[in-house]
Amino acid sequence: MQTIPRVKDPTAAPVFQRLPFVPGSLFFILLLAGCAADSPSILDPRGPAATSIAELWWLIFGLGTVIFLLVMVALGLALFRRRSSTASETGGSTRNDNRVILWAGIIGPAIVLIVIFALSVRTMAMLSSTTPGAEFVVHVTGHQWWWEVQYPNQAVETANEIHIPVGQPILVRLSTEDVIHNFWIPNLHGKMDMVPGQTNEFWIQADTAGEYWGECAEFCGIQHAKMRFVVVAEPLAEFTAWLDQQRAVPPAPVDALAQRGQQIFLGSACVYCHAVEGTNATGDLGPNLTHLASRRTLAAGVLLNTRGNLAGWLTGPQHIKPGNLMPPTELTGDELQALLAYLDTLE
Ligand code: CUA
Repeated sequence: MQTIPRVKDPTAAPVFQRLPFVPGSLFFILLLAGCAADSPSILDPRGPAATSIAELWWLIFGLGTVIFLLVMVALGLALFRRRSSTASETGGSTRNDNRVILWAGIIGPAIVLIVIFALSVRTMAMLSSTTPGAEFVVHVTGHQWWWEVQYPNQAVETANEIHIPVGQPILVRLSTEDVIHNFWIPNLHGKMDMVPGQTNEFWIQADTAGEYWGECAEFCGIQHAKMRFVVVAEPLAEFTAWLDQQRAVPPAPVDALAQRGQQIFLGSACVYCHAVEGTNATGDLGPNLTHLASRRTLAAGVLLNTRGNLAGWLTGPQHIKPGNLMPPTELTGDELQALLAYLDTLE
């Protein structure tokens, strides 16, 4: 089964064997560096909101580094400076100590905290500022454990994949169908909770085209870690073409195998949970499958959308994502091939 890698570090074991003398902490710092290979990072901002968050992060990191170095210098001085022993110097030393405590222990930290507070408030204000007259609105609903994605103004519904035009602010509306989830695209924005009975909103914008991974950032049950999605930022023409394609009703299958697959699909329990436009399948418990074949992933960013992975998901969803609502599909090999051929037509 072809899964999507999160952390790529194929050399970890050999390096560990070859470098037995590398101090443990340094070794783990190197391991952490491997995390950057496939995981989205807030330090790789691709939009204005993420950029302001990254700037704040670097500022606090810089301040922390300067303070850390100053403390280390002070510690070094305290350790290596020869202590004075004469009674006459003791009084002066106490006055100096009090001055150090006042400036380094009270006034200095107060200034640093006030500066950080002011910068944080400025960043928060920037993140909550809105651009009036949003042309594109995307409504994302959290489910255990997948993302329902709707474009209400364009009558488009999909799942686990959000398309946005490059260089334009998009209004994201967030709600949940069950427990609290948290919508997070590290390259584009900070985190936002999806709270039962409430709709939260924020704006995302990508300044460069690309695919950005998003994930759930609030523990929401056993498969919380397998609740991912992809944001595809593309030029406006490609984005509107995608909207048109998603709005279209897929044509009825012409191939005999796919036609048989459609009969199997419509005659099975699939239709109670899934919808396919233009058919009698109108379930809304699971993802809308109208354009399943056009999506990049299956099972909320867990598997690449390949024929083999789809076969594995249909026959053993509880092996791949234990606890999810999808029951295994009891099919013979021939029936499975027919069903796959049908699902393949849903582009
Ligand atoms: Cu949804 Cu964690």
